[in-house]
Amino acid sequence: MHAVITGGAQGIGLACAQHLTSAGWRVTLLDKDNDLLEQSSSELGCQYAQVDITDLESVKKFFSSITHLDALINNAGIWIPQKLEDMNFDDQKEVLEVNILGTLLCTSSAIHHLRNSSSGSVVNISSLAARTNSPGLGLYAASKSAVETLTKQWALEIAPIRVNAVAPGLIETPGTSENYKEGAKEKRAKAVPLGRVGESSDIAKVVLFLVSEASAYVTGQIVYVDGGLGAGTPQR
Ligand SMILES: NC(=O)c1ccc[n+]([C@@H]2O[C@H](COP(=O)([O-])OP(=O)(O)OC[C@H]3O[C@@H](n4cnc5c(N)ncnc54)[C@H](O)[C@@H]3O)[C@@H](O)[C@H]2O)c1
Repeated sequence: MHAVITGGAQGIGLACAQHLTSAGWRVTLLDKDNDLLEQSSSELGCQYAQVDITDLESVKKFFSSITHLDALINNAGIWIPQKLEDMNFDDQKEVLEVNILGTLLCTSSAIHHLRNSSSGSVVNISSLAARTNSPGLGLYAASKSAVETLTKQWALEIAPIRVNAVAPGLIETPGTSENYKEGAKEKRAKAVPLGRVGESSDIAKVVLFLVSEASAYVTGQIVYVDGGLGAGTPQR
């Protein structure tokens, strides 16, 4: 079984690669950062390709270079928090290009391979932000809402390829580590019903389930993996 993971060189994508590899999958990491890719792929002993998912030629070239694919994990994503009044248009355009158009480009380029698999599936990585309507996030939350809508739309369009999404809550990764410095992690953990900030492996375990035979009848679903943070307000 072969999986391609975008943004796989670090964080949640790399944890997905570790979990799938341990479960016997062959994994190819895609990322725009070549140094990180070389390091992570040699540690894992997996294949990799330097691909910026917003670059049409690069994405097409990669997907035409492979011969078999069972799962695509659209994990690469960026966030540039800005308030409406301070918004930089080019920054927010980039958020849409990576999170929505990059996901679209990879998925459309992978479809013919996934159709040839007996168990093809796609897992998109969304965010709790898609439904919390938090201030100051620029277009990040809106981009993830679009990813959730497309997850359901594509589940209808390309069945029997299964299409699901995982929406992480607060997860400590290289990309979010600044948010958890100097006591901030403990403070944030208090808001989470399960009492801790999540780890990349919390997400990877659910992604592994969603690409596996165990979820053979699951499609069009958004699974929130957030320690209960999105469920409501805990009693204090
Ligand atoms: N960490 C969290 O708390 C959290 C919460 C909700 C959702 N998410 C989502 O999970 C995903 C992974 O987040 P993370 O925290 O692991 O991020 P991260 O910043 O630690 O890692 C992201 C990886 O994606 C790569 N990448 C970025 N743009 C790319 C592009 N255009 N083409 C190819 N690769 C690209 C980066 O080089 C990096 O290796 C993202 O989609 C993010 O929105 C994360």
